[in-house]
Amino acid sequence: PRPDLDRFGLSLPSVLAERPEGHPFDPPRELVRLSGQAPVHRIATRDGAPVWVITGMAECRAALADARLSSDILGHPAVREKLLPHVRERLLDERARAGSFITMDAPRHTRYRKLLTGQFTVRRMKQLVPRVHQIVTDQLDAMIAQGPPADLVRDFALPVPSLVICELLGVDYADRAEFQERSAKVLRVDLPVEELLEAGDGLRAFMHELVRHKRERPADDILSGLVHSAAEPPLDDDELVGIANLLLVAGHETTANMLALGTFALLRNPEQLAALRADPSLVDGAVEELLRYLSIVHLGINRVTTQEVRIGDEVIPEGATVVVSVPLANRDARQYADPDELDVTRPRGAHIAFGHGIHQCLGQQLARVEMAVGFTELLRRLPGLRLEVEPERVPMRSQMIVYGVHSLPVSWDG
Ligand code: HEM
Repeated sequence: PRPDLDRFGLSLPSVLAERPEGHPFDPPRELVRLSGQAPVHRIATRDGAPVWVITGMAECRAALADARLSSDILGHPAVREKLLPHVRERLLDERARAGSFITMDAPRHTRYRKLLTGQFTVRRMKQLVPRVHQIVTDQLDAMIAQGPPADLVRDFALPVPSLVICELLGVDYADRAEFQERSAKVLRVDLPVEELLEAGDGLRAFMHELVRHKRERPADDILSGLVHSAAEPPLDDDELVGIANLLLVAGHETTANMLALGTFALLRNPEQLAALRADPSLVDGAVEELLRYLSIVHLGINRVTTQEVRIGDEVIPEGATVVVSVPLANRDARQYADPDELDVTRPRGAHIAFGHGIHQCLGQQLARVEMAVGFTELLRRLPGLRLEVEPERVPMRSQMIVYGVHSLPVSWDG
């Protein structure tokens, strides 16, 4: 058996990542089998620790809306106890955790979420659309000038969301290369842990400098808006850096992997690709379908119970690890006809690719714009887009928190 998945010192069963050989878009067979039997399952990690996995759509939504399921996983004594000593101190460092509201519960979460919702306004998202267009176009121009071939991940999927976050945070043009380099480094998986921690420290220092700059010279960006908001008590620098880091971490790899894995999925479903090429107005529906079908938060959304909770027919005790399986819920046969088919013309249905409840993705409108513009321009600018390698050779991110491809070698008719 494969080792368990180590998530910040918290173990998850490896079955969550075991996709069928040759079917990179399908969820693990064992989970599919279990979800056919019941919507909630008690399974175990290799050391025997129980984990509750929820696979039914209705039950997943109920779990994500339930305040007895906490996002502050590291805050729970049962989890703290299990943390490996060498990561414990760093993970629990209060200054480093400040502002990272994705792991907070109400009412602490509420304060930050309100401040951020006040910044992610319709006006600001509208303003960003032409900027996203420009970033996508510039990136494609550069890729076309150098290729074919190209690595779609390195040359397109990773830089686009990184530059969009620069717009959001108001990083000066002169500093964007440094920002991109630093943020790409913290996402690398092939670095020794010491170097990763160092890269993390470097990025924090960069963000501290950015915050200082926004205090002195505010502009029309989210960070300036937060620095000069009427928050009571005012946000301190650690909180602001934590928020900026969260936006980067939550918005970079997710969007990048949707762009790259989405392109891979379209190339592997030529009739769907042809339909989208023939009618670009299908793109918004295609984006929703790709979000559902690919469910890149593939190991699920984690929570820990603060009380005994009944979900479906299972009684989950206090202090238990719960996995809300996004991929299985998004293929729940009670919700979707032919759930395993990619169908860009599928009528819109509710999916949980962006989560549900109080933590539902704050950046979803922006992510949708990035994907719609990204796929539209990619297909328009690259006629004859194709894989440069056998599909089996595309390196998949099976063990990563965000699923996708490590690289995607492509070619096109130049
Ligand atoms: C939360 C998915 C893009 C910022 C979430 C959650 C999911 C998710 C599943 C819920 C996590 C939980 O309940 O614990 C995605 C996907 C994306 C994407 C699939 C791309 C396709 C973005 C972007 C941004 C962003 C572009 C910002 C620029 C956030 C933030 C949260 C969040 C700040 C935490 C919200 C809270 O705790 O209240 N995202 N996301 N995401 N996302 Fe996204």
